[in-house]
Amino acid sequence: MSALPRPQPRPGVLDIAAYVPGKSEAPGVERVFKLSSNETPLGPGARAREAYRRAGEHLEDYPDGSASDLRVAIGRAFGLDPARIVCGAGSDDLLNLLARAYLRDGDEAIHTTHGFLVYPIATLGTGAKPVVAPERNHTADVDAILAAVTPRTRLVFLANPNNPTGTYVPFDEVKRLHAGLPSHVLLVLDAAYAEYVRRNDYESGIELVATSDNVVMCRTFSKIHGLAALRLGWLYGPAPVVDALNRIRGPFNVNGPAIAAGIAAIEDTAHLEMAREHNTRWLAWLTEEIGKLGLEVTPSVANFVLIHFPRQKGRTAQDADAFLTARGLILRQVGAYKLPHALRMSVGTEEANRLVVAALAEFLDNAQ
Ligand SMILES: Cc1ncc(COP(=O)(O)O)c(C=O)c1O
Repeated sequence: MSALPRPQPRPGVLDIAAYVPGKSEAPGVERVFKLSSNETPLGPGARAREAYRRAGEHLEDYPDGSASDLRVAIGRAFGLDPARIVCGAGSDDLLNLLARAYLRDGDEAIHTTHGFLVYPIATLGTGAKPVVAPERNHTADVDAILAAVTPRTRLVFLANPNNPTGTYVPFDEVKRLHAGLPSHVLLVLDAAYAEYVRRNDYESGIELVATSDNVVMCRTFSKIHGLAALRLGWLYGPAPVVDALNRIRGPFNVNGPAIAAGIAAIEDTAHLEMAREHNTRWLAWLTEEIGKLGLEVTPSVANFVLIHFPRQKGRTAQDADAFLTARGLILRQVGAYKLPHALRMSVGTEEANRLVVAALAEFLDNAQ
């Protein structure tokens, strides 16, 4: 090794703890149920799969770099101006673009204690500082976020509903948060799980984006649409924000098969409704049945539940994870989200849901 100075990443990069995706394997187990990444148990609809297959016949062509047909389809589905939509390679791409466009060294971006991990990662990658606002009852607290604002704050990331807690902030509270922020701070409403929410006091952010200059809403095709493998997300924002993101995004940041499948998925309202129904039914069932076993479950409005375990040896979240994994039931450890005593479980097929509840009952019995 030479003593010459080596290339150095920008400050902040080496402070990043790289994102660790949910496990997908249980060594030695034949049948595995992956419930660790909030994927839909129903998969994409037949129309999206067919559109993807057809697009596969033309892989030699560059995609439409502005994803116009997809933006038009999204605009039609939600009543939005396609010119104010930006598509990305998953909403991760858009969250990173927002950080790159709006943060510089020394700036601050706020997220909440158990907020989605991509926020601090995207922030640190720009040389800015992530600032953590405490939550209350595993729920984002508007007053705590507002109290964390300083003259250096540029972005506020709010996952609504949040992953991994499954809790949400009612629309009135989101409006109060927006009203309390300085006008130059951009509020990022990450509504990756919006389609699953069945609450009258919830709004994904569309209305706030439409009526203000400093709010954006991110959405994804990875969850209810079942297209996580294709990496497709979208953002609705004020024209100047859209303009900034379009200047720095990759010129072909969304691939052709993703565009084709995304258009078919957004138009397939029957599949969407089926996925929503499935989730509503099994989310309630899991919450109740796991609760009956004596484990605390954080009330969730999304497609997953956060299950809290005792701290006694033999009954911990880590013990439960090992027990379930040995049976092919893969949940998510959430220590990286400052929740070392909990596991997150995605709502699965009926079979998977019943197997987890039965296995948890056995686990707790064995640990008596
Ligand atoms: C809150 C939240 N935002 C964004 C994402 C990223 O989704 P995508 O697959 O669109 O990058 C996830 C995925 O887990 C999420 O939980």
